Amino acid sequence: VERKILIESTADGSNTLFVPELDEHYHSINGAVQESKYVFIEAGLRQCSKDYVSILEVGFGTGLNALLTLLEAEKSKKYIHYCGVELYPLPIDLIRKLNYTQDLPLSDQNLYLKLHEADWGINNNITNFFSIIKLAEDFTRLEKNLSDNFDLIYFDAFAPDKQSEMWTQDIFDLLYSKTTEGGILTTYCAKGIVRRMLQSAGYIVERLPGPPGKREMLRAVKRDK
Ligand SMILES: C[S@@+](CC[C@H](N)C(=O)[O-])C[C@H]1O[C@@H](n2cnc3c(N)ncnc32)[C@H](O)[C@@H]1O
Repeated sequence: VERKILIESTADGSNTLFVPELDEHYHSINGAVQESKYVFIEAGLRQCSKDYVSILEVGFGTGLNALLTLLEAEKSKKYIHYCGVELYPLPIDLIRKLNYTQDLPLSDQNLYLKLHEADWGINNNITNFFSIIKLAEDFTRLEKNLSDNFDLIYFDAFAPDKQSEMWTQDIFDLLYSKTTEGGILTTYCAKGIVRRMLQSAGYIVERLPGPPGKREMLRAVKRDK
C-alpha cells in the first residue's frame, strides 16, 4: 500500500512523519524523541526488573522506540529481545533522512540503519544486548500467531479516533494473554475508554502524568499470581 508521508520537525528538534491521508503524526509534535523516551523507556523499560526483557511493539514505524530501547539495553546491561509489528514498512530512503542518530549517544552510527536493514520475519542480532524480529503483518489479524509471551508491550498505534480498529477489547484481551506475570503495557494514550478496555482485559491500570504537552498517559500491569 503506497501512502504519502512527509517529514516534519517536532519541538525538541527531532523529526516525525505526517500522514496526510489520516491527518496523523507518528509521534508527538511536542517532541518525538522526548515523548518516546518518556512513555516507553522511562515509564516502561526502566520499570522492568528482569535482566532479560522480551518486548512487543505494536507499530514499529520509524524504529525510534526500538533504537531508544537498544541504547537503554547497552546502558543498563539488560538483554532485550524485541518484536516489532508493522503493516506499512517505511522505505529506507525515507529512514535515511530522519535525524534520530544525530543527537543520540550511539556507539555506531549505523545501528539505526541496521535495525531497518534487518530481514523481516526472522531473528536478527543487532548488538550483544539487542536482538529483533520484525513482522510485516496486520496486527489486527495476528491473533494467536504471536508465539512468545512479553514482559513489556509498547502500544504505539495511531490514535483511537484515527484508527479505532487497533484499540478494541479483543486486541487488549489478546495482549493480556501474551503478557507475562508482572509484565507491563505502556501507551501514550490516556482515553477513558482505553483505560476501561485495559482493565476489562485484566490489567491493573495507572494514569501517569504525560510527557511535555500531554496531560496523562496510561501504564497497565499484569498482576503477579
Ligand atoms: C503512531 S505510529 C508508530 C510509530 C512508531 N512506534 C515509531 O516510533 O515510529 C503507528 C504505526 O502503526 C502502524 N500500523 C498501522 N496499522 C497497523 C496494523 N494494522 N498493523 C500493524 N501496524 C500498523 C503504522 O504504519 C505506524 O507505523
